[in-house]
Amino acid sequence: MRIQPANRRLGILLSGRGSNFEAIADRIASGKLNAEIAVVISNIESAPGFERARARGLTTVYIPSQRRPREEFDREVVEQLRKHNVSLVVLAGFMRLLSRVFLEAFPYGILNIHPALLPAFPGMDVQRQALEYGAKFSGCTVHFVDDTLDGGPIILQAVVPVRDDDTTETLSARILKEEHRIYSEAIDLVLSGHCEIESRRVLVK
Ligand code: GRF
Repeated sequence: MRIQPANRRLGILLSGRGSNFEAIADRIASGKLNAEIAVVISNIESAPGFERARARGLTTVYIPSQRRPREEFDREVVEQLRKHNVSLVVLAGFMRLLSRVFLEAFPYGILNIHPALLPAFPGMDVQRQALEYGAKFSGCTVHFVDDTLDGGPIILQAVVPVRDDDTTETLSARILKEEHRIYSEAIDLVLSGHCEIESRRVLVK
């Protein structure tokens, strides 16, 4: 099945630092990524990434998530994404699991980046886990989001060697550099209609 988003309008969802969002925004600003950030949505009003989005003059929408049923929150997010005519949703450090309401509104239309080589080390705090496990290589993964935890079809990965003298911080920093590179590349592949899905394999045509 060929994946072809209807337009190049992105909806960015974030809850924290926002360095992946900024890398994507910089790529777009420099003309290297042909896309438009239609809206930046956050469930944390004070998230640094959200402040940076406002400073860049982007359209931002705060949607509180605390003490609300997941579906109700997701419905509001979907409503905003639709209102801003978004065809590709980009999770950039968005600390929420998505309900069916959200997933079904954007089939193969939601991307996530994860700081490990999936399927190794899904979940949280994974750079530390890779280090403590003794993995010799880690890296990052951009994947479509489905109803599994970090388990959707993989679009791109980058490998980062683990050094003997690495700490969680040094390893995370080297992985992050690769995240900033491959996230934009993956977005471009998807927007350009180059991705085809065969069972769970993403083939780049
Ligand atoms: C990144 O490590 C990303 O892989 C993970 O959450 C972190 C977000 O960092 N999903 P930032 O907010 O983009 O700086």
